[in-house]
Amino acid sequence: MRLAVVGATGVVGETILRVLDERGIDAASVGRFASRERDGVRAASDEALAHFDCVFFASSEDASERYVPALVARGAFAIDNSSSYRMRPGVPLIVPEVNADAAEPGHRIYPVANCTAIVLCVALAPVRDAAGLRGVRVATYQAASGAGRAGLEELLAGERAIAAGEADAHAVFPASLARNVVPQVGAFDDDGWSGEEKKVAEETRKMLGLPDLIVSATTVRVPVRTAHSEAIFVETERDTSIEELAAAFARAPGVVFHRSGIVTPRDVEGTDLVHVARLRAESGSRRHVALWAVGDQLRKGAATNAVQILQLLASKGYIAP
Ligand SMILES: NC(=O)c1ccc[n+]([C@@H]2O[C@H](COP(=O)([O-])OP(=O)(O)OC[C@H]3O[C@@H](n4cnc5c(N)ncnc54)[C@H](OP(=O)(O)O)[C@@H]3O)[C@@H](O)[C@H]2O)c1
Repeated sequence: MRLAVVGATGVVGETILRVLDERGIDAASVGRFASRERDGVRAASDEALAHFDCVFFASSEDASERYVPALVARGAFAIDNSSSYRMRPGVPLIVPEVNADAAEPGHRIYPVANCTAIVLCVALAPVRDAAGLRGVRVATYQAASGAGRAGLEELLAGERAIAAGEADAHAVFPASLARNVVPQVGAFDDDGWSGEEKKVAEETRKMLGLPDLIVSATTVRVPVRTAHSEAIFVETERDTSIEELAAAFARAPGVVFHRSGIVTPRDVEGTDLVHVARLRAESGSRRHVALWAVGDQLRKGAATNAVQILQLLASKGYIAP
């Protein structure tokens, strides 16, 4: 099995290499590609990628759309962190803890869902299974590195500028992020929803297998380096209780459940699990609960989920180990 990463110099690409290494796959043997050549990294091209059996994309919509078709046409696999193929009918959108059954032998394109939607779905799946889901409202607190290396560097430069008493410029984010919160992630449509908010809604419905689920998101960038947090408000289909949901979270794969106390982005940075805390019922209701979820969006929201998909395909025998 010859593996490659397109986007190996980016924050997701370098995390994919790290996670592969952690999981016993010699990262030195993995082909590394970016937009241009430099030390140990080659410029991506159809010819250069023609030697690989499975390619992780951690680059851009353009690069995925440019290189994935030729790869899958010759039977190779693409595990793609961009949004290019996520909502395409017949293409599975897999979070192994939530919908591993969606992988089938004929599939060659495996998109990795939006990082905010992955954290949300890992937290919602135990509720779906215990009491059904009717509606989800979520407000997010998203890290700067969710906007790539350039986003992280803009936050750090802003912190330095403010400390030095200088003006902090912004180009990646719609307003300066240092010592601020910015309630826009992606471009707004005519109705006022941002691109990120629409991705969270439609991808969550697809991953949970609930096409009619009400999902309403307000996505917000906060001056955190890594890990996305989410305040989630859920309406269930059936009556439930905090005890029933706490038990469901305690046994859910991929979840660390905190019965009491809090969990913050800095607590989970560098880890692979989604942490759920602050579970509570809304004013005595048996169908309305609130909770707090946090996950490292570079790992579980992107790289770890991508490597888990590779491992899932190997465990099902769809791809050579
Ligand atoms: N950051 C996150 O938290 C996160 C989470 C989930 C999904 N994603 C998605 O993952 C992908 C990568 O994001 P990132 O945050 O890692 O971005 P990033 O830090 O900006 O890195 C982008 C990488 O893509 C490469 N690249 C750009 N255009 C390319 C092209 N035409 N051909 C080949 N390589 C190209 C860049 O290479 P150069 O160094 O040569 O420019 C760089 O290695 C994006 O699709 C993003 O939406 C990101």
